[in-house]
Amino acid sequence: MKNKVLGLLSEEYYLSGEKLAEKLGISRTAVWKQIKSLKIKGYKINSIKNKGYKIISRPDKPYFEEVSNKLNKDIIGKNILFFEKIDSTNLYAKKLVKEGVSEGYVVVAGMQEKGRGRKNRIWYSPDGGLWFSVILYPRIPPQNAMIITMAASVSIVDAIIKNTNLKPVIKWPNDVLVRGKKVCGILTELDSEMDLINSAVIGIGINVNNSISKKLKDIATSIKFETKNYCSIVELFVDIINNFDKNYRCIKLGDFKFIKDLWLSYANIIGKNIRVDTENLTFEGIVIDVDNEGCLIIESSKGKIRLTCGDIRYI
Ligand code: BTN
Repeated sequence: MKNKVLGLLSEEYYLSGEKLAEKLGISRTAVWKQIKSLKIKGYKINSIKNKGYKIISRPDKPYFEEVSNKLNKDIIGKNILFFEKIDSTNLYAKKLVKEGVSEGYVVVAGMQEKGRGRKNRIWYSPDGGLWFSVILYPRIPPQNAMIITMAASVSIVDAIIKNTNLKPVIKWPNDVLVRGKKVCGILTELDSEMDLINSAVIGIGINVNNSISKKLKDIATSIKFETKNYCSIVELFVDIINNFDKNYRCIKLGDFKFIKDLWLSYANIIGKNIRVDTENLTFEGIVIDVDNEGCLIIESSKGKIRLTCGDIRYI
């Protein structure tokens, strides 16, 4: 019903409560209740006696009713579930997978109380950021999982370029950096058999207009801090989802090369000297390739090493 009310209300002219009630087939009291709940959600609606209602401004939140008509929805974005506050969108998405929801479901939150990053690190997720998870059923072998995260990261970079004057780069495996500091992280969680992925939850956290915790200021930044301008969360979200939808379609069609080439152009990692920290070893070397499974091929003093996971630093 809220969606219908929003479809009728306009930013240009007033619509009377009577007309609204008539068009929606509900009572004027029910119309008033809908207006009241829209106001609680952050819509600024002016009401003038004998004239009716007019929208003054919309909340910058990726509510289904705000983004739905702007999404391509080939696979990703058919369903959007928004929470003002949640423990973690990844945790919730994994519950939805167990319930058997359809592919492309997106869970978004205004803030997370138990946001998690890679290696089970805490992911600081206050109000003003973009925190969401996408549910996919890719039916590809688990060793190819990295291509999905690569598709997500290039989708994010393209959306940031479109919405700001920033030039983000990708840092392996899939952090998005601006001027050397992290603006976005991706946590991909798989449920997999030996030969096929059953489900993948792609958790994306972007520092958009939010504050950055004091402890992280040396390594993390936000889009707003870097541009000195407010960035629309709704517009950024819509562009990411539409890009990801298109790029994920490529994966479904088996075109991994398109994603990898785009990723390489944003990562600019070939030929770079790096230091690697994994659970069991630390070494230095030069990146000579990224293979089709997204692993780094590094020439080091110990010979050629294929890196599947770990943290890297440019030296
Ligand atoms: C990283 O360590 O770089 C990955 C961070 C991923 C954070 C996102 S925010 C939305 C989703 N929900 C979570 O709890 N984590 C991911």
